This record gives sequence, C-alpha cells and structure tokens, in this order.
Amino acid sequence: MYTSKITGLGYYVPENVVTNDDLAKVMDTNDAWIQERTGIKERRHIKKGDGNSTSVMGVKAAKIALERANLPAKDVDMIVFATLSPDMYFPGGGVEVQEMMGMRTIPALDVRNQCSGFIYALSVADQFIKTGMYRNILVIGSENHSGGLDFSTRGRSVSVIFGDGAGAAVVSRNTSGSGGILSTHLHSEGKHKEELSLRGPSTELWVPEIIAENPQENIPYYPYMNGQFVFKHAIVRFTEVINEGLQANNLKVEDIDMLIPHQANLRISQFIQQKMRLPDEKVYNNIQKYGNTTAASIPIALTEAWEAGKINEGDLVVLAAFGSGFTWGSAIIRW
Ligand code: ACO
Repeated sequence: MYTSKITGLGYYVPENVVTNDDLAKVMDTNDAWIQERTGIKERRHIKKGDGNSTSVMGVKAAKIALERANLPAKDVDMIVFATLSPDMYFPGGGVEVQEMMGMRTIPALDVRNQCSGFIYALSVADQFIKTGMYRNILVIGSENHSGGLDFSTRGRSVSVIFGDGAGAAVVSRNTSGSGGILSTHLHSEGKHKEELSLRGPSTELWVPEIIAENPQENIPYYPYMNGQFVFKHAIVRFTEVINEGLQANNLKVEDIDMLIPHQANLRISQFIQQKMRLPDEKVYNNIQKYGNTTAASIPIALTEAWEAGKINEGDLVVLAAFGSGFTWGSAIIRW
C-alpha cells in the first residue's frame, strides 16, 4: 500500500473586499454585531465582470499549487472538485477545470459535502493514491457564495458570514518513505439536513413552484441556517472527529503542531481551541479576512499557514470540518 502527501498548495480570493460597514449600507446590520458573533471583519466577493466564477477561481488556485508541486497540468491523473456553489446546476466544476487547464481526459469528480467538502475530497484523493491507481491528484475547494445570498435585512444572519474564494492542493504518491496523510475520518447525519440548506431550485422544488408559492418569509432559493442548532452540533462534532483521528494514530492533543479548523465562525474555532486546551500558535484562523468560504476555507487557511512558515516538515497537522448535511471529518497529516 502506498501513502499520499500534499506536495503543493495554492489559494485565490477575489480582489473585491467587502467590509462589515459595506454590508451595513445594504442591510440592517453593523460591524460590532458581526465581529462579536462571528469574528469576521471583511470578506471577498466576486464583482460582476471581473471574470471570476467558482471554476475560474479554482483554476487560479490550482495553477499556484501545481507550480509549487513542480507538476505540469498534463501529469495530473485526477481532479476532485468540492463546492456547494458550482457555476452550473450540472455539469459540476471538475470538468470545467479539466477543460480550462488543458488536461488530458482524466476523471473529474465533484464532491458535494459543503463545509466538509475539502476533507471529503482529500480523503478520496488519498484512497486513490493508496491503492496505487493514481500518482497525482488535484484537489480543489472553491465557492462563489456572493452569487446566491440574500443581501436584504431578511438574509442578514446568513449572508454576513460567507465569502468567495478557492484553495487547492496537489496530492501525490509519497516517495519520502515517511509521513504524509496518516488517516482521514468522515461522517454524516442526514436527519439534520434542513438545518443548514438551500432547498431550491431543485428537482423537488423547481422554479415554477417557487414562483407560484412566492413565500415572502422563507424564500427557499436562499440558504437557510438554524445558527444556534448548527453551533451546538459543530462544537461537539469538531472535537469528536479530531479525537477520533488522533486515537486512530495513537496520538494525543499535545502532539498537534497545527490545527486548521474549517473557518465556520471564529467563535466555533475558539470554543474548540479552549476545549482542547490548544495554545494560540497551534490553531490557524483567517475567517476575520475572508469570512466562511465553505469548501475553500481549509485549503485557503492551510496555504496561508504554510506560506507564513507556520507548518514545517515533520509537523503534525490536523484538518477538521463540520457543516451542512450534517457532515464532518478530519485529516491527520505528518508534514
Ligand atoms: N446583524 C445584526 N443583527 C442580526 C444579524 C446581523 N447580521 N443577524 C441576526 N441578527 C439579529 C437577529 O434578528 C436577532 O434579533 P432579535 O433578538 O431582535 O430577534 C438577534 O440578532 C439574535 O439572532 P440570533 O440568530 O439568535 O443570533 P445568534 O446569537 O445565534 O448568532 C449566528 C447568529 C452568528 C449565526 C450564530 O448562531 C452562530 O454563530 N451559529 C453557528 C453557525 C455558523 O457559524 N455557521 C457558519 C456556517 S455553517 C458552517 O460552516 C458549519
């Protein structure tokens, strides 16, 4: 059995910075509320006409990751693309990346696990490499949230949280003989699917029905989030799945050099950090600058932490996520 290793990382965020004060111009909100509840100061939004989309941002992040891995696009054996905001209802973003990057007719798999999307995608890549089927897999998490949020006061409890961006990782067969991705742990609990969801348009609720219903209070083509319910489940599942990963590798919390939690909400990250008694320098957060970028949040944070020299060879890096589905997961990596 082979093992896999992250050999290149990259991220891209749109240039357009949207501050809390900018949001306060279009809805009834304020900087103090947003910062106190979420830790977010600003986020990036695609600007109409700037050429970005979920797939385009994914390609921009992927190019950086491939360059750092010193891997030409033609040598990629598979794409795994995680998003909840694809450019089209179908097909998904993976094939768009294949086409835009001029890759061979390699498989392009789309992963739909929302905030846990990057960890699910990484796990898929890890399995294909472990079996020896593929050598180099491009894993991308990318989101264009701003295209689908309700920026009126009605949508404020959701729309202030999310931002746009993309992150990418090249996952390759580990030839170093040690370390790499030690294990991944994935979970789901569909009974809570409606607590954080976007109901339509979907095959169960298509456009004519939405228009006919014309609900003013609960418009189903914007995301719905039961914030406090999500919060309560997130803090339990995050800790569970981190501990599950550590135990599977006979490791302890003290062994962690860097925890990169999905950037759901700074309060969630801080709660986990406190519960696990991790010092500040062992938890990386950047939600303050980018908001919650769902499937992109972990690869963006991981890339930034690595660029800042906070992740070094031999370090134990733990990735963990929780989100819509509910789904959650962790990845334990020896860098
Ligand atoms: N600005 C100002 N006031 C607001 C805003 C806003 N943007 N949004 C809601 N409010 C108001 C509400 O209308 C409500 O007013 P009322 O008391 O007059 O009715 C009041 O603030 C409190 O609203 P709550 O929804 O109860 O606020 P809460 O303290 O629960 O905070 C939040 C909301 C931040 C979403 C919180 O529940 C939370 O952090 N939940 C975790 C969910 C999360 O972080 N999800 C991220 C995405 S999912 C993921 O990635 C896992």
